[in-house]
Amino acid sequence: MEKKITVLPGDGIGPEVVASAVSVLQSVGKRYHHTFHIAYGAIGGSAIDQHNDPLPQETIALCEESDAILLGAVGGPKWDQNPAELRPEKGLLRIRKHFDLFSNLRPVQAIPSLLKASPLKEDIVKDVDLLIVRELTGGLYFGEPRQRTEKAALDTLVYTRFEVERIVDSAFQLARVRRGKLTSVDKANVLESSRLWRQIVDEKKVGYPDVEVEHSLVDSTAMKLITNPAAYDVVVTENMFGDILSDEASVITGSLGVLPSASIRSDNFGLYEPVHGSAPEIAGLGIANPAATILSVAMMLKYSFGLNEEAAEIERAVAAVFEDGYFTGDLATPGSRVLTTAEWTEKVINELDTSFVSD
Ligand code: NAD
Ligand code: IPM
Ligand code: MN
Repeated sequence: MEKKITVLPGDGIGPEVVASAVSVLQSVGKRYHHTFHIAYGAIGGSAIDQHNDPLPQETIALCEESDAILLGAVGGPKWDQNPAELRPEKGLLRIRKHFDLFSNLRPVQAIPSLLKASPLKEDIVKDVDLLIVRELTGGLYFGEPRQRTEKAALDTLVYTRFEVERIVDSAFQLARVRRGKLTSVDKANVLESSRLWRQIVDEKKVGYPDVEVEHSLVDSTAMKLITNPAAYDVVVTENMFGDILSDEASVITGSLGVLPSASIRSDNFGLYEPVHGSAPEIAGLGIANPAATILSVAMMLKYSFGLNEEAAEIERAVAAVFEDGYFTGDLATPGSRVLTTAEWTEKVINELDTSFVSD
């Protein structure tokens, strides 16, 4: 197979974790005889510095010619006081909207050798296998009007029926090929947009009799997600709630540094990125955990290219390196061996190579 991938390293630890993920991708390509053509583009703060635009036209053009996008992270203190249009985060929001990437899949799975790294009790986290399906191109992030004056500020939370129907449909379809359980998270006791959301879930469930549905309010869900995370299968929710709940869910695995994500649309074109941000305080130190970005590449292979075996091989290699007791600092527990980003990546690549030799 031959594919074009646009890589957008971004800011902070973005370039470091992306470099790791690209080297894993190329190793997998070599092993399975695929050719991945990589083109690099600018996004976020570094694009503002070079082009005075967090999402330059050249970057959009590159992505349009590609089969998938891999992104590191954007943002940092240098740009935090910029006007709204010139913030790094605006570049990310614009690329999601431009490519209509409405469905953001954020899987959270217990990795046996990481159980000790979670501050939660092993019994609570050991059976977790859930998927947060976050609506990504609507809600508060994009609603108009949006205003700021001396005396007040305004953001708009708006959802259309069309936007809710398509994300709810994708979540039902994912639930039916998993364990058949869907939790829809909203704030229907307060928000009109949530009441529309809940109504649409109830309408849709008639078409998916094989899926068990529950509605859950976001505040108590935040509590249950860490007291009983194993109870969840697919969790579908709007943009802002999904953002918050997914970072919370990283506590289950022990670090934000291991959570991957896929932002896809109906034709399976997608942008793949770790759930975490640019972690400015550790940028440049070579200690960031690249696992989330490496696992995001696995999601790209699976969801955009249908390369399920190759994706599973990356997941296996990552788990094997953890199993061997090698971690980056964010996951360190007494007795574990702490490696740099590059060293840890090398272990993953060696793991892939080893299985090649033994084939
Ligand atoms: P963050 O996710 O960057 O960091 C949160 C905490 O997790 C920090 O302690 C950080 O050191 C740690 N961390 C995150 N990823 C890690 C990794 N791979 N390895 C080891 N430790 C890791 O969130 P934040 O500090 O709230 O935000 C920093 C900047 O990132 C902000 O500018 C924010 O807007 C941006 N951000 C970008 C994205 C994105 O590009 N998708 C996502 C979230 C935040
Ligand atoms: C994420 C990030 C982004 C979001 C920010 C940086 C715009 O937190 O991808 O989770 O809120 O969606
Ligand atoms: Mn987030």
